[in-house]
Amino acid sequence: FEKVPCHIYEGAKEASAAIAKTIATLIREKQQQGKPCVLGLATGSSPRLLYAELVRMHKEEGLSFQNVISFNLDEYYPIDADALQSYNRFMHSNLFDHVDIRRENIHIPDGTIAKDQVKAHCAAYEEKIEKAGGIDLQILGIGNNGHIGFNEPGSSLFSKTRLITLDNSTRLANSFEFQTVSQVPRLAITMGIQTILKAKKIILMAWGPLKAPVVQLAAEGAVTEQIPASLLQQHDDVSFFMDTAAGSELT
Ligand code: F6R
Repeated sequence: FEKVPCHIYEGAKEASAAIAKTIATLIREKQQQGKPCVLGLATGSSPRLLYAELVRMHKEEGLSFQNVISFNLDEYYPIDADALQSYNRFMHSNLFDHVDIRRENIHIPDGTIAKDQVKAHCAAYEEKIEKAGGIDLQILGIGNNGHIGFNEPGSSLFSKTRLITLDNSTRLANSFEFQTVSQVPRLAITMGIQTILKAKKIILMAWGPLKAPVVQLAAEGAVTEQIPASLLQQHDDVSFFMDTAAGSELT
């Protein structure tokens, strides 16, 4: 497989601005064609500056999200929709509340549904993505263990949206948002690897020195389900955007 093209910027801010430009261009192209623009979105610390830049472009440069349909990667399970740590809340406070996206076009896995409804919810999520025409551009972060979405190491190449058990390392990495690590939910609903790989274009972001080893493995190492992000090497339009620290171990 081709190794992944890597774009290294001085800082997360510059890289995020470049990704925001790519998104804005795509949204406007689709607008001119009278078509929806289907975005796959991530949460966590990595996309914060990207969403801030998109909000700025909406306020200062007239970038409209009227034709945007969004699908978020994942959500903790179970979690209240407006819990401080919920990804639903994160998306509204970092992006959706500040732009003109139509509420009915926002899709986030539902962390509040009953357990016996989860399977149907996941299948319906996949169907909604298909019905929207598929994801035009998927934005990803990367976990220290190589996860994308919450597809932990060992996730199948053929996985779809489903309920998964979070790795302890993931719960620990995300525990700063909770009072203690034991309060981090043990489960999550995530798009699958196959769901992600079906996107027409994929951009993965990584910032800071802690991500350097896993970025090297994902971009240049063997393609293995043990490093889910390495499976992206099989996609024909994927690129990694990083700062110099995250790119410091690339050969
Ligand atoms: C979040 C997600 C995760 C994060 C990853 C990195 O929606 O899908 O894969 O992208 O855990 O998290 P941060 O950006 O907090 O380092």
